[in-house]
Formats: sequence, structure tokens, C-alpha cells
Amino acid sequence: MKVTQTLTNEHYLILKVLQLLNQSRKELESGKIIPGIFFEKAMAFCSDFADQFHHFKEEFLLFGLLSYKKEGELDSAMGTLRYQHERCKHCISQIKKALDGYNNKKEMSVTFLLESLAVYVSLLRRHIYLEDQIFFPMAEKALSTAEKKSLQEQFADEENRLGSKESIFERNQILADELAMIMNSR
Ligand SMILES: [Fe+2]
Ligand SMILES: [Fe+2]
Repeated sequence: MKVTQTLTNEHYLILKVLQLLNQSRKELESGKIIPGIFFEKAMAFCSDFADQFHHFKEEFLLFGLLSYKKEGELDSAMGTLRYQHERCKHCISQIKKALDGYNNKKEMSVTFLLESLAVYVSLLRRHIYLEDQIFFPMAEKALSTAEKKSLQEQFADEENRLGSKESIFERNQILADELAMIMNSR
């Protein structure tokens, strides 16, 4: 049983949105106009799905269990991942702050937006690489079958806590498709 598969599946969706944000950054650099609604919806995705839903499960459920189980052995790796989560959260708040000015065509806001987009995309891609390739395989080795089962149940509880009729994953899948449509239908 692979308990980190749920998190890796969420990474695929996050990477899809990161690709669109990267595309928007490149287009902004060359003077193309990206509708403000794209960034508003993208930040709703990043804030609700990537930051609050996905990072919460990693930090408070997976890291918490690993910290207890390995008695500090993985604390340095988890410290780095936590720091990256914090920096990503900061970028989201900087992008949100820049949006009013961006919608009012203020060049300074375009500057803030470009700066935070570049950092966000780069940091989160590196972060996902570290988790998928190094940290999650390490976690799979460290946890017993019973611990993985319990963790899987906690992931499901978290989803039920936040879920409505459609799951939070499906809702955000639809949002990611909407973002792709905005970017590709201009
Ligand atoms: Fe993470
Ligand atoms: Fe992650």
C-alpha cells in the first residue's frame, strides 16, 4: 500500500496549474494581456487546494506522524519542506495584493506580480520534485502498513470535513480546467 499516492496525485494537478502560471508569466514579460480573473481564480486554487488542503495534510498528518515515529531523524528534511510551504504561502499573498493594481494597469503591480509568480512557480516545482523523488519514498519505507492505513483514513476524514457533493479534488480539477480554458482561448 502506498499512502503517498494521494499526495502525488494532488501534485499532478498542482503542476498543471503551475504550468499555466508559468505561461502567464512568460506572456506578461512580452507585453501580452492576461485577464485579472485568471490570476484571481488561480490564487483561489493555490490558496484553497495547494496551500490549505494539500500542505495541511502533509504538515499536520504525514510530517506529524513521521516526526513521532522517527524521533527527529527526518526533522531537517521536514523543516526544509515546511519552510518552502511558508514561502509559497507568502508568494500567494503577494500575488493577491498585486491584483488590484494589476487590474488598474499599474506597472509597479505588474512588477510585483512577475516577481512573486517567478518565485512561486520555481519554489513549488522544486518542492514537489523533492517530495515525489526523495521524501515520499523515504516516508513509505519508514511507515508500517497499519500506520499507512491510519494515515489514509485521516486523509479521507480531512477530505470529508471540507467536502460537499463533489470532492475538493474534483472541484479543483474543474477549476484547473477553467484556468486552462482562460489561457488557451485568447
Ligand atoms: Fe509539500
Ligand atoms: Fe506536496
